[in-house]
Amino acid sequence: VRVEFLDYEAIDDYGWSLDDDDLFRKASHADLDGSAHGRLLVQPDESLLEAAENRGFAWPFSCRGGACANCAVYLVEGELSQPTDHIMPDELAERGFRLSCNGYPVSDELKIVFNVKQLAELDDLIL
Ligand code: FES
Repeated sequence: VRVEFLDYEAIDDYGWSLDDDDLFRKASHADLDGSAHGRLLVQPDESLLEAAENRGFAWPFSCRGGACANCAVYLVEGELSQPTDHIMPDELAERGFRLSCNGYPVSDELKIVFNVKQLAELDDLIL
């Protein structure tokens, strides 16, 4: 599964928004560091977080078990599984927030924003 990723930090720095239709196009033109915007492949036995780590990226995490939301990502395109045993409230899940530590891609391609834990909406969930 191919994943295009973007660091929320860049969105914040450039004054973009998660809802921008052309978010990833803007990111492509912004000459961002390869750790802030790029692509990676997820193997079938890897969660999204594991795939990022196995390709040398350092994305935020803490519990690795669905209980803290430090590893939260925002889905721009595609779908990531969410186990029933997790901390993400339904209204945030419906808006596209997922946990990368135990989320497995269920679409052929994904576009995600990682490092969204600093968003005010997620602040209460961070342990
Ligand atoms: Fe805690 Fe993913 S690292 S929920």
